Amino acid sequence: MKSREQWGSRLGFVLAAAGSAVGLGNIWKFPYMTGQNGGGAFLIIYLFFVFTIGLSVMLAEFAIGRAAQRNPIGAFAVLKGKAWPLVGAIGMIAGFLILSFYSVVAGWTIAYIVKMASGTLVGDADALGAAFGSFISDPVEPILYHALFMGLTVAVVLGGVHDGIERACKVLMPMLFVLLIVLIIRAVTLPGAEKGLAFFLMPDFSKISADMFNAALSQAFFSLSIGMGAMITYGSYLNRHENLGKSALWVTSLDSIVAVLAGLLILPAVFAFGFDPAAGPGLTFITLPAVFAQMPGGVFFGILFFLLLTVAALTSAVSLMQPIIAYFSDEKGWNPKVSAVFFGIVIFVLGIPSSLSLGIWSDFHIIGEKGFLDSVDYITSNLMMPIGGIMTSLFVGWVVADKMKDEATNNNEKKFKFLNGWLFICRFLAPLGISWVLISGL
Ligand code: PHE
Repeated sequence: MKSREQWGSRLGFVLAAAGSAVGLGNIWKFPYMTGQNGGGAFLIIYLFFVFTIGLSVMLAEFAIGRAAQRNPIGAFAVLKGKAWPLVGAIGMIAGFLILSFYSVVAGWTIAYIVKMASGTLVGDADALGAAFGSFISDPVEPILYHALFMGLTVAVVLGGVHDGIERACKVLMPMLFVLLIVLIIRAVTLPGAEKGLAFFLMPDFSKISADMFNAALSQAFFSLSIGMGAMITYGSYLNRHENLGKSALWVTSLDSIVAVLAGLLILPAVFAFGFDPAAGPGLTFITLPAVFAQMPGGVFFGILFFLLLTVAALTSAVSLMQPIIAYFSDEKGWNPKVSAVFFGIVIFVLGIPSSLSLGIWSDFHIIGEKGFLDSVDYITSNLMMPIGGIMTSLFVGWVVADKMKDEATNNNEKKFKFLNGWLFICRFLAPLGISWVLISGL
């Protein structure tokens, strides 16, 4: 086998994995899911899933990837074979599907950079809501931005793991962080914002339902980029010396911090401007322009924000594509550049019905009342990724546990206090807990 690319440093790896985790899931999806699922109680269940099942599955993926030094399908094949590579294959298909609609939404963020700059995002809450609605339902404009975003994703993948992904993450992640803090200061000092803070931070446990558990679990998988092989792939570019447990803890913590910050930004603003917290996928795009309008230099901050959000989405999109590229390069000897362009086009085409499902195709329902985009989101986040998580946990906990113990402790060189706790979660808590949530969701 030819020698594989490697991350430049521990920090580079953690930032790249955090770059995969932090994206639209945190800033677009998390606030509206929290809004739809009752606020503070959702936050607590979400964080519980993240730091038990989520953290364990992430560590499991890092360990599988580093042990095998392969793409997800190859990794299961090298470590065990039999039917296990199927888990990697399902994950790669999930990556395909997720990226197809992810890129559509990321296209909206690019469009919003342009709209902020050209001063078309003005007016009151109703006007901003109407502007968003008419933009996403247009049959042409959002698809052009979707094409642009896929083009950018392919360009970063062409730059290679080290130069492209790692370098972008090192600079832009800290910038996004600082900007979020600045914007939160504005949002929480708006008159009426305290109601939003209370909604987000004071749990009302009477609202707890099976749906809420289901939503929190699928959001945890989506936001942490786990259950579909992205973290196996990133782990495969890791050298033998890194401490996997610590890295996984860093990535889950950073991801959760950004989600909570996004909640602190969006939800107070939602209440201050009298929007409906359960409004759904438009929430972030409608609320933020209203916040920018209320601050000095709002246009500047608006442009900067949507720019950084686009980059955060880009570093996630790259990780959705990388398993596919790695598979065809490791196993089939394809030139990664050729496959990046080829699959970029395939995924772009797959995203078109998602975009149209918000406008001219809104009458087509695939699952229940859900249109194409919502259905693809549902199948991947609520089914494929959690099932991937069950299989990954079982694999690490029961099938290759000894090898994975060595991997997590670097052959007993490093102390890993939670080794037994981790194995317990992989063996019992994750498979049973996820199954329970999935079954009660149906
Ligand atoms: N975690 C990313 C986000 O929150 C999305 C993603 C999912 C990326 C799965 C890779 C794999 O935006």
